Amino acid sequence: MAKEKIIREPTEIRNRDEIEALKQNDTYDKPENWFLSPRMVETFILGSDEVLEYEVKDKKKKIKITRKFYGDNVLVQRSIITLASDRGLLLIGEPGTAKSWLSEHLAAGISHTSLNGIQGTAGVTEDQIKYSWNYAMLLAEGPSLNALVPSPVYVGMKDGLITRFEEVTRCPREIQDTLISILSDKVLIVPELGEKGVLLARKGFNIIGTANTRDKGVNEMSSALKRRFNFETVHPIKSVKEEIEVVQNQTEGMLESDNVKVEFKHDIYELLVKTFHELRKGETTDGVKVNIPSTVMSTAEAVSVAYNSGLYARYYDDGIVKPKHLAINIKGAVIKDNNEDIQKLNQYWDLIVKRRGSNNKDWSSYYDSKKYLM
Ligand SMILES: Nc1ncnc2c1ncn2[C@@H]1O[C@H](COP(=O)(O)OP(=O)(O)OP(=O)(O)O)[C@@H](O)[C@H]1O
Ligand SMILES: [Mg+2]
Repeated sequence: MAKEKIIREPTEIRNRDEIEALKQNDTYDKPENWFLSPRMVETFILGSDEVLEYEVKDKKKKIKITRKFYGDNVLVQRSIITLASDRGLLLIGEPGTAKSWLSEHLAAGISHTSLNGIQGTAGVTEDQIKYSWNYAMLLAEGPSLNALVPSPVYVGMKDGLITRFEEVTRCPREIQDTLISILSDKVLIVPELGEKGVLLARKGFNIIGTANTRDKGVNEMSSALKRRFNFETVHPIKSVKEEIEVVQNQTEGMLESDNVKVEFKHDIYELLVKTFHELRKGETTDGVKVNIPSTVMSTAEAVSVAYNSGLYARYYDDGIVKPKHLAINIKGAVIKDNNEDIQKLNQYWDLIVKRRGSNNKDWSSYYDSKKYLM
């Protein structure tokens, strides 16, 4: 039977060759229990021009490490150092700025798994952060390690792994505070198990939290918990060129994994990324002020528009992605539940897209697709 295809493999699987090459070339100092050294974790995330040689089943191979995260390189280094220290790391920022993406890659580089994590929601309970019980076994045998159902934090402490805690501030504050003693004493007590119930964290354990600044105030963190984390703010990508690279790599990777063949002949990425970049900033690259929509014009949304445009071109057209496909798909990304955003988008078309269309074919056909925004 053919191998089932997975929608999205974790980064350590997607990039298994890169990780293998980094591991085989890793001669640097590393903290106890880390899979790769801090230098190699950084290379995994920021990429390198160097060609690495490595061996798989006696076969010599070569690979270049691709750049995964675009932005502040020192932020990445500081984040890695924080994870080697006794403080947790909290990545905060606007939606769609790659906080989860960076957290996934840090965990994969340091612990060789990005899957040990919790998703924060209003419904998270203390059990889900610490441990719970298999009640059938608990009734049959009484409290024992066998009957204990470990949480990802428990597993992280026991095995010395990075534990990801997505959207920490979506959890009720008293539940978030469960992390205080775990982060400061690095111990988790299971009172029901007596002496056997003391779990001391192994080296390598740490927590990467993420939190969204738009959700700030949902459940503001206590100052005691804030003190146990180093905060790093992740900003949207500043350069249009780099954002184009991100959107292009992501989109083409996703379409390839779906086996959807399309051609991006026109300046699709430039049209899309400039639109997003300028609407996010409220100013065009040549200094004209534009109205900012209430929706987040994030890189993640831009990737989604490009991906959907690719699918649209394949399934409803001739497989060549055209400016019109962008306009069709932008509507769903930008206009959520605020009708004023339709006007802001239309203003952008009338003011900016039209002007650029006077001397550029792609911008002109982008302008002609205005009807799809209504
Ligand atoms: N600076 C960046 N470098 C690389 N990729 C980026 C960058 N910014 C955004 N992306 C892309 O955007 C996508 C979304 O990122 P992610 O889901 O990590 O955002 P987030 O900050 O966690 O958002 P949210 O607050 O909504 O959870 C990723 O797939 C990533 O490829
Ligand atoms: Mg996220």
